[in-house]
Amino acid sequence: MTPMIDILHGPNLNMLGTRQPEVYGHDTLEDINEQLIALGSELGAVVRCFQSNHEGHLIDKIQQLRGASDGIVINAAALTHISIGIRDALLAAEVPFVEVHLSNVYAREPFRHHSYLSDIAMGVISGFGPTSYELALRALLG
Ligand code: DQA
Repeated sequence: MTPMIDILHGPNLNMLGTRQPEVYGHDTLEDINEQLIALGSELGAVVRCFQSNHEGHLIDKIQQLRGASDGIVINAAALTHISIGIRDALLAAEVPFVEVHLSNVYAREPFRHHSYLSDIAMGVISGFGPTSYELALRALLG
């Protein structure tokens, strides 16, 4: 069966392209999603993409993926550092996931060094720009 992979983007990632390009690069979210959908089809998977600025909407989406997704690539953005709700939703969904960040969060402010997701993730990829998502997708399908 064709694997279904879900890419989840958290708050402010809809602003990519114009948001602090020196940190997050010039690609828009649409560029990143298009690249991931194309790579997914090359690798024989269906890639679906979702972005929300709202914690509850992300939690609703993660809950819906229980039994309906083969893997999640999540950039929870700022919610990574504060959301027990996203953590609990991922635990409840029981879908393997990779945590990604465009920037290297460990080279930035100390409040970005803690993640509520890392210890329950398959793995964490941080610092490679849009390639972080690509590596995560390859890891999930590998
Ligand atoms: C981010 C890093 C987070 O600390 C930040 O709040 C983001 C984006 C990244 O992709 O580098 O919004 O997750």
